[in-house]
Amino acid sequence: YINEVIFEKSVDSTQTRAKEYFSLKSKNFVVIAEEQTNGVGRFKREWKSPINGGFYGSFVFKDNVDRDRLSAFNLFISLALVETFKYYTDEIVLKWPNDVYLNGKKVSGLLTEYYNSGDEEGIILGIGINLNPTRHELVETAITLSDVFESKVNIQVFTHQLLKKVNHYYGLYRSVPFSKVREEYLKYSNALGNEFTFTTLDEQFKGKAVDIDDRGFLKVYDESGKIRTIMSADLNI
Ligand code: BTN
Repeated sequence: YINEVIFEKSVDSTQTRAKEYFSLKSKNFVVIAEEQTNGVGRFKREWKSPINGGFYGSFVFKDNVDRDRLSAFNLFISLALVETFKYYTDEIVLKWPNDVYLNGKKVSGLLTEYYNSGDEEGIILGIGINLNPTRHELVETAITLSDVFESKVNIQVFTHQLLKKVNHYYGLYRSVPFSKVREEYLKYSNALGNEFTFTTLDEQFKGKAVDIDDRGFLKVYDESGKIRTIMSADLNI
């Protein structure tokens, strides 16, 4: 569970800040910033993080890490996001493995990193959520929560709700296998039964997603009828 919340005004990235604090703190903590000047997403993409625009935080879990369960970890945390979003809208779609979509556009992404300081290990979980529009334009493929909530989202209230849910689902992640929340996850996922183009770090192929296993990996029938198990990919229709 998270024991300490560190609020910052402006940082380059809460993810790098979390790493700086890592060895200084003995317990789990989260670094939250009002704005990031160099927010990063997966595949080194930029994560726009203007002031008053969203939630930008990095959670540090300094517990011993089961690296084989990091993908499942993402899926548990996705459910924490769903539970938080539910206060505002019902139209939540989880895009396996890391993103939350509203109306076909991305509202949130997770960046999960295994971290080892030399003498201690942990998970550094970055969460970025677009909450309110600002004068900095979002890309075409992005949306803010307030666009569907049709009212300004109070960032402090949202943060409080999110921390509670992340704590809850982290506790679940530590105590039960993914199969226990699989049904819940599938209620919000668009993956199973659908055809996608899968782009991984080293290849691209078409296929149909058929299952998610206990590690959180996706099982896919590719075009040649072969079944593949993938840990992470970009899914596009
Ligand atoms: C993605 O969708 O690619 C993941 C985006 C993660 C963005 C968050 S914002 C807080 C934390 N600090 C960063 O620089 N990145 C993550």
